[in-house]
Amino acid sequence: MLPVLIFLAVFCDVRAALFYDSYYGVPIGMDEVKRHSKSNTTFWCVNEFEPCDPNEGRRVDGTCNNLRYPNRGASHTPFTRILPPAFDKDYEPKKAASGNDLPLPRVLRTNLVSVGKVPSQRLTQLAIHAFVFLSSDVVSLHDTINYILWRPYCCAPRGKNDTYCVPNKIPNDDPVHRFSGHRCLNMTRPETFQSIGCIPKGSTPERIVSSTPGIDLSSVYGNFLKNLQEKGRLYQGGLLKYEEDSGRIWPPSTKTQANVCFLNQRPAETRCHDMPEDGGNTLGGINLMAVWLWRNHNFIATQLAKVNPCWDDERLFNTARDINIALYLQFNYYELIPAFLGYENLIKDGVITPTGEFRDVYNEKVLPQVSLEFPFALRWLHTVQEGSLKMYDLEGHYLKQFPIVNLTLRTGYFDVDNNIDYITQGSFRQGSAKIDYIADPDITEQGLGPHQSVSDLMTNDMAKNRYFGFQPYVKYREACFGKPIRSFYDLEGIVDSERIEILRDLYEKVEDVDLLAGIWVERPIYGGYVPPTFYCLTIDQLRRNMISDRHWYERPNRPNAFNALQLGEIRKYTIARLLCDIGDKVTKIQPHAFLKAGFNNKMVSCENIPAINYEAWRDLNCGLPTYFNQYGKDIAE
Ligand SMILES: *[C@@H]1O[C@H](CO)[C@@H](O)[C@H](O)[C@H]1NC(C)=O
Ligand SMILES: *[C@@H]1O[C@H](CO)[C@@H](O)[C@H](O)[C@H]1NC(C)=O
Ligand SMILES: *[C@@H]1O[C@H](CO)[C@@H](O)[C@H](O)[C@H]1NC(C)=O
Ligand SMILES: *[C@@H]1O[C@H](CO)[C@@H](O)[C@H](O)[C@H]1NC(C)=O
Repeated sequence: MLPVLIFLAVFCDVRAALFYDSYYGVPIGMDEVKRHSKSNTTFWCVNEFEPCDPNEGRRVDGTCNNLRYPNRGASHTPFTRILPPAFDKDYEPKKAASGNDLPLPRVLRTNLVSVGKVPSQRLTQLAIHAFVFLSSDVVSLHDTINYILWRPYCCAPRGKNDTYCVPNKIPNDDPVHRFSGHRCLNMTRPETFQSIGCIPKGSTPERIVSSTPGIDLSSVYGNFLKNLQEKGRLYQGGLLKYEEDSGRIWPPSTKTQANVCFLNQRPAETRCHDMPEDGGNTLGGINLMAVWLWRNHNFIATQLAKVNPCWDDERLFNTARDINIALYLQFNYYELIPAFLGYENLIKDGVITPTGEFRDVYNEKVLPQVSLEFPFALRWLHTVQEGSLKMYDLEGHYLKQFPIVNLTLRTGYFDVDNNIDYITQGSFRQGSAKIDYIADPDITEQGLGPHQSVSDLMTNDMAKNRYFGFQPYVKYREACFGKPIRSFYDLEGIVDSERIEILRDLYEKVEDVDLLAGIWVERPIYGGYVPPTFYCLTIDQLRRNMISDRHWYERPNRPNAFNALQLGEIRKYTIARLLCDIGDKVTKIQPHAFLKAGFNNKMVSCENIPAINYEAWRDLNCGLPTYFNQYGKDIAE
């Protein structure tokens, strides 16, 4: 009997795993897998996963979302592009139409974007935290880590010998650095399937990132099942691992000092999260959102366990995760994005529905991918980021401020002096920077805080524009809005005349204008607050994400779909509710917390912010609750 069992075990094991080429999206044989493991490229170039089960819910690693192309949706798979790439020879950045060099990225930045601090009277810091978190869900930060840690010499002489170093020149007459002596900003080329060694060099560079392309809370649940199992799950009550410290709930912390929180000021600051991905330790805003959504998982699992005492850990965990992702999509699509792009615009363009009904928009022909343009366009938000994080007490009295760039890789700061309480209050009380043509000085000179002597995030954005090989602004403008732009005069009405003049000074021809330069100077869209081309590139992805996701929460017929009652509960959700449920000491807040409190958005007690009724998830298989009170509620609660 024994040999048969062993045979079966081996047989099942061999059948269990599928191996796919991460770039080409096709199954590969064991010899190919071995070749990759020999050259240590398995992690990036091979997706290994269990065969798909059409009735299974959303996988952490994103595989099997599309049943025909099962590794699409996984990490390390290619981006799509809205317009085909345009490079110079050898896939170097494009030159001007005349063959001359394009203006330096730093020169474009200093001329097109002014520097100063103008607070928004409309949007809160919370809106920016949420947007930064959203972009971290679909990309990873390794291109930044690359020039900070892996190639720390790009501005040094040695950088000249490394083709991956592409630092940005600061000209002698720079308005800031003519005084400082700095002439160089570190930067590396984006990592690609070619640079990693998945496909041969000499073809169009294809960007590679570690996040799954779906908007699926990668920063909380990670991108790999193994990481979630080892670092995330408690295997009890459907919960994620957590630590309780002075009444606060945190994700588990790393036990070693050698961790990613390099800037923790020891000995006071020690906290550093040990989550399935390191995203939750990177930028201040991402860190906050990751803590909140981590806690939210446990909040949901606890509510589900109350109504369904017979559910086991697995069922509680999977349902809580599915709800957490749905709530997150709900506040992103219906609250955050409309605050920028305009609610009516989004209805008109089919991104959201005003009816509250189910939406079955799935199309298996559209692969679960992110356009390369989407996370890139989100970089425009650097102009809306405010450099100082203001802190308020629970009554809304201003206490102090701290530069948010100094909180990069410094999780410990949140956990001392009640800072997280005050930062949480500040997130919905402080305005973001205003949407204008002005960026915060910390973003343009200090972007990565103490990790670099100087860094201008927006200069790097402009340089990346070219390394990603985006076609000129006028091509995107035409693809989005139809009307061709043949001369600077055609920009009248689209861009203010004084900014058209600046463009004419900087560029030889209108067809040379970089995509991002155009986005920086466009007038906002009708009915919204963002540049029209930003709008166009953003809604393209928001739609693709919804149409290509078989597990989209508004679908009535996905595996384990919500019923109408449950979807109705999900639809009540707001970011204000999230903070009332799990924010540190939040007892009152304005109903639309991405917008500043005011006449139409008065702060109210959390009791008046609509909450989810988890009764909608009651499973009668657990038996009826023992005692009902007159409202049908379990009085044991
Ligand atoms: C193999 O690749 C992994 C992931 O990229 C990396 O962490 C590791 O250091 C590499 N090992 C060697 C021996 O190069
Ligand atoms: C370049 O990166 C290194 C390593 O992170 C850093 O020490 C240096 O200050 C950076 N250079 C500039 C000009 O910011
Ligand atoms: C760059 O490479 C050349 C040739 O290999 C070598 O002679 C030189 O010392 C290198 N420079 C630096 C700064 O590493
Ligand atoms: C923030 O970091 C900069 C270095 O980038 C440093 O000069 C400054 O003192 C820091 N600010 C605070 C409040 O720690």
